[in-house]
Amino acid sequence: MSKKNKSKKFPIIIANWKMNGLLRESMQNFKHIRTNIHDSLVGCEIVVCPPYTLLRDFAEKIPGTGIKLGGQNCHHEPDGAYTGEISAHMLRDMTCEYVILGHSERRTTLNEGSEMVGKKATIAHQNKINTIICVGETLYERDNELAKIVVREQIIHSIPKCSTAENTIVAYEPVWAIGTGAVPTSEQIEEMHKYIQTIIAQELTQFKNEPRIVYGGSINSNNSESILSIDGVDGLLVGKASLDPEEFWGIIESAK
Ligand code: PGA
Repeated sequence: MSKKNKSKKFPIIIANWKMNGLLRESMQNFKHIRTNIHDSLVGCEIVVCPPYTLLRDFAEKIPGTGIKLGGQNCHHEPDGAYTGEISAHMLRDMTCEYVILGHSERRTTLNEGSEMVGKKATIAHQNKINTIICVGETLYERDNELAKIVVREQIIHSIPKCSTAENTIVAYEPVWAIGTGAVPTSEQIEEMHKYIQTIIAQELTQFKNEPRIVYGGSINSNNSESILSIDGVDGLLVGKASLDPEEFWGIIESAK
């Protein structure tokens, strides 16, 4: 990888709505963001990942706004008898350009392993969907100096051979920071982002350039600017704060 690729990348702010959002209030929230974007200059790429039930409404209203649409997961098979699942092709059909994969809530509660995440990423790429691949350690792992070992394992096995800097974003989300209000220090974030860059550069030969590496976990409009200014942080994956349109707009503003 050449040195010229190491400059600060265009930031990306991703809203992960998780299992939240009913039709009427969600569309009002979306309208709020859309109006703000229309009225001001935005210094980042914006992706909204609503629940599946809202994808169609977003797909209708998102064109021309500059906002991109994402799914929160996809199945690793193209189609078939998988009750309750959604395919990458279906996400693409709903105009999704991104999909979040390997979120810790799925890794933990649904026992989703890194190999499975890698298969999902492969089929997402086959459908021209960019992947947001989540990695991160638990508090136990951090306290026992296992954080880097765990994150390395997740990176190596979750990111498939078809990944490039253009179709892949890595999201570093320490499990202990998600939804807890606890945020790592700037030094801890910088250290892990640099470590992820190093693993990718040294061990994932499919990358000719550095992918964006975003941080996620208890982001709000008060801490977003300082976290975005950390070396190696190319954007944010935002959960709870992205449900409040004022709060989410504050985060977008901090990327200017
Ligand atoms: P949070 O969630 O911002 O509510 O901590 C982040 C995430 O799970 O992606």
